[in-house]
Amino acid sequence: MMELFLDPDDPRPLAVQLYEQLRTAIAEGRLRPGDRLTPSRTVAADLRIARATVTEAYGRLSAEGYIEGHSGRGSLVSAVPQPARRRTVVAALQPTRRAGAIVPFAPRPGAASEFDCQPGHLDPALFPVADWRRCCLRTLDHALGQYDDPQGTPGLRAALANWVLRSRGVAATAEQTFVTSGAAHAVDLVARVLADPGATVAVEEPGYPPVVAILRSQGLRVAGVPVDEHGIVVEAIPANARLVYVTPSHQYPLGMVMSRRRRLELLRWAGRSGAAIVEDDYDSEFRHAARPLEPLQRLDRDGRVIYVGTFSKTLSPALRVGFLVTPVTLLPALRAVRQAVDWCPPPATQGALTEFITEGYLDRHLRRARRRYGERYRLLRSSLDQLLPAGYRRLPAEAGLHLTVSGPRDAADPDLTPILRRHGLRLTSLRRSYAFEPAATGMLIGFAGLPYQHVVPAVHALSSVLNS
Ligand SMILES: Cc1ncc(COP(=O)(O)O)c(C=O)c1O
Repeated sequence: MMELFLDPDDPRPLAVQLYEQLRTAIAEGRLRPGDRLTPSRTVAADLRIARATVTEAYGRLSAEGYIEGHSGRGSLVSAVPQPARRRTVVAALQPTRRAGAIVPFAPRPGAASEFDCQPGHLDPALFPVADWRRCCLRTLDHALGQYDDPQGTPGLRAALANWVLRSRGVAATAEQTFVTSGAAHAVDLVARVLADPGATVAVEEPGYPPVVAILRSQGLRVAGVPVDEHGIVVEAIPANARLVYVTPSHQYPLGMVMSRRRRLELLRWAGRSGAAIVEDDYDSEFRHAARPLEPLQRLDRDGRVIYVGTFSKTLSPALRVGFLVTPVTLLPALRAVRQAVDWCPPPATQGALTEFITEGYLDRHLRRARRRYGERYRLLRSSLDQLLPAGYRRLPAEAGLHLTVSGPRDAADPDLTPILRRHGLRLTSLRRSYAFEPAATGMLIGFAGLPYQHVVPAVHALSSVLNS
């Protein structure tokens, strides 16, 4: 079904106007084979024209093979493949070089793999459906008739502040907490308010590619700074960096924890050079061994650290909820930018999440998820240690939902992920995390979407491909 229009100023006969609209819609794929055309009687009544005018247009489409009459079902678009029209990109719609340079981080969802080791995927069976549904239903009792606070609802901000204080020792108040659509969105907002196009910002190399894409899309100069076993190498940060983005609790993708000494060194450097720091604490709720270190945000004495958290690992990446905790001085600009772009986070999701946290469902869910993911983590770790071929090494990681394997150093070899994919293994190449340096070989193996009983077979499949 498709809305048809007639232009009273168009000198062409009405039947020709109808014919042209339908033919173009079929040729451009807006009407697809098997779609039913609106009955001619209805079109005639809607447009207040004679039915014969509509049947004339339909007759021409039928004679040219675009549609076929089916008794009792009206006219259907034919299955005859239409030649794909070459589309010339109108200059007005040519994306800018900046936008065109962004490579999508995640491919479009493809066919399911036998072993889903994609970092970022969670076990859908662990999502607490019944509890979440209850929280959503309770929320629907509240009014949803207006725009809401760009910073997030006061109820959710209070719940988040209390929770991060309790779970990660972040010194947060509801006033300082700002709800976002995930961690990457938080980085986007902070960069928008702190760095003008052309300014230099620093990220870890290797690092999290979506953040590099966000910063570049804003016209910022992104500098990649190497990491060692203690975290970002502070002396390699460009002196003019306005903002430094780091993942201290669990470096993405290599997995090390930034040492306390390095944290203090980074803060001292930022103090001297007048830079702000974004601390992305994306997955430290899943800590499998060592005690957490004090967040940068807590060590910061002069208010230059913005702490970022997300529910993409703790609950679901599909919820699109994250948050930041910021010195209050940044709030007016953040609120103004958020309101200008999309006004506010969705109140219904916020209401459900507030209930979910305050009623204790989140703690309960996390206890269960930590247990399950912890079992998979330990099994994956030991299986990799036993089965990886020579030249491959599992990197130490004590938090999070993926393990990283480094490959042979000298490899200029082709990327193995498509080959692994053909063998039923879906994972992410370590190369993708390098935006500046020649990439090291290796892979990120997510275990949250991989059922426990699949862990060992997946590692067998991996090592047999790597051995071949
Ligand atoms: C380093 C890092 N930051 C943030 C995120 C989560 O991003 P978001 O909250 O935008 O889904 C991920 C997800 O894998 C990540 O690896």
